[in-house]
Amino acid sequence: MHSTPALAFDVYGTLVDPIGISAQLARHLPGEVAGRVAEVWRRKQLEITFRLTAMGRYEDFEWCTRRALTYALAHAGHELPASIQDSLIARYDHLDPFPDAAPGLARLRTEGYLLAAFSNGTPAMLAAVLAATGLREHFDEVISVDEVRVFKPSPLTYHHAARRLDRAPSAVRLISSNPFDIIGAEAAGLRAAWIDRTGGAFEADGTPPDVVVTTLTDLADRLGRGAG
Ligand code: 2OP
Repeated sequence: MHSTPALAFDVYGTLVDPIGISAQLARHLPGEVAGRVAEVWRRKQLEITFRLTAMGRYEDFEWCTRRALTYALAHAGHELPASIQDSLIARYDHLDPFPDAAPGLARLRTEGYLLAAFSNGTPAMLAAVLAATGLREHFDEVISVDEVRVFKPSPLTYHHAARRLDRAPSAVRLISSNPFDIIGAEAAGLRAAWIDRTGGAFEADGTPPDVVVTTLTDLADRLGRGAG
């Protein structure tokens, strides 16, 4: 088992922007509705993963993403034909990367960290979005929770990531913009860093981790020279 630190990066919200899909939604919906649908879509997508996990059930992240889109449209009082919904789901494989993602990852790699993408996304979704954004080249490993058929924040997912990286949980730091992900990782014995992309409040059922930054380039400054 290796003791050098590894960094496991959440994908949606941390490396790529799920809310940016409001630009595609705006081609089919009034502008103010599109932004709201994008927010509800993302929130419902995560809520479905939480509920499936609480019920001890599993459907993959593409299924959750599809159901959440249908819900978000209905919630806004809109319907879109199946072909347009399909094109929006396909667009999920081409979400825009945050501008700091590639430079931050490149710098952290030169600092000697092992880097992994670690996400609720299915292997196919992750392969597609990491290829489309050009981010795949920065990662040594891509780990999908689909390998254990349960979603974050189940401890099984974080322990699986540590196993895949051949490290004790304490030698892995989860990097995420999603507070629930940080809380889950720390509860499972990992370290964590919060990328606070919205200037928002941390979740009420936990406290921010020892590393809080707003971009991945700031993270590289913070974790430079193997600081862990
Ligand atoms: C991810 O696993 C939770 O969106 C988050 O990529």
